[in-house]
Amino acid sequence: MSAKIISIANRKGGVGKTTLSILLATALAKQKNLKVCLLDTDSQKSALNRRLIEQAQNGTIDPPYPIEHVFPKYLTMELKHRSEDYDVILIDVPRLTDSEKDAEIVTAIVHCDDVIIPTTPAEMDVVATNDFLQIVRDVQEKRKELGMPFSYHLVVNKWNNTKDCENTVAYFESKGVPMFDSYLSDLVLFRPPSTYDSVLETKEGRRRFASFFDEFIKQTKL
Ligand SMILES: Nc1ncnc2c1ncn2[C@@H]1O[C@H](COP(=O)(O)OP(=O)(O)O)[C@@H](O)[C@H]1O
Ligand SMILES: [Mg+2]
Repeated sequence: MSAKIISIANRKGGVGKTTLSILLATALAKQKNLKVCLLDTDSQKSALNRRLIEQAQNGTIDPPYPIEHVFPKYLTMELKHRSEDYDVILIDVPRLTDSEKDAEIVTAIVHCDDVIIPTTPAEMDVVATNDFLQIVRDVQEKRKELGMPFSYHLVVNKWNNTKDCENTVAYFESKGVPMFDSYLSDLVLFRPPSTYDSVLETKEGRRRFASFFDEFIKQTKL
């Protein structure tokens, strides 16, 4: 069986791509006992660095899943090489700022069965996310043409119970964008998440993350 390939993507930085990638990868490995691999394609290597910091703090005990840095141009090869060894491969897709580099983001998401797109309720993020959705829809068209499955979902991250949050949901709903019903609150608990211990291993973590994670499992059919 080939791995399910899921990317956490947005053109915008700071919306929670790396945070979500780690939260999801750790929960899938620790709570669902799935064989997970997290591919960090960001040149800043934030996910990998997070793992290295934890290893420096806690010693190099066996991690629940590998985090590997991969240049986007090698992603096709890497996925081919790895997909038989895992149940799920998550890709932390880098932020992109100039249109020349959109090719890199397409390279990453064109291989995916699912794309999770975090946005915050901040106006700047909503505008950038709306632009990014066009790229995702193009990829969806292409994969449909080739008879390959593809789905995408927007998730609101850093939910803070303001009018902006309600407006963000209403805005994307009015455009018919597929969205998660659950959001991720703006919490110290998620900042930054552990690559060793699932946030679901604590009572507070379960209260704040369980419904979001359940919806992720449902929507990605894992
Ligand atoms: N749900 C959240 N609650 C609190 N802080 C968050 C949350 N999501 C992200 N952050 C913080 O916001 C910043 C940007 O998040 P990050 O995951 O690095 O975004 P990206 O990978 O999209 O650039 C980081 O400092 C991170 O700790
Ligand atoms: Mg990041």
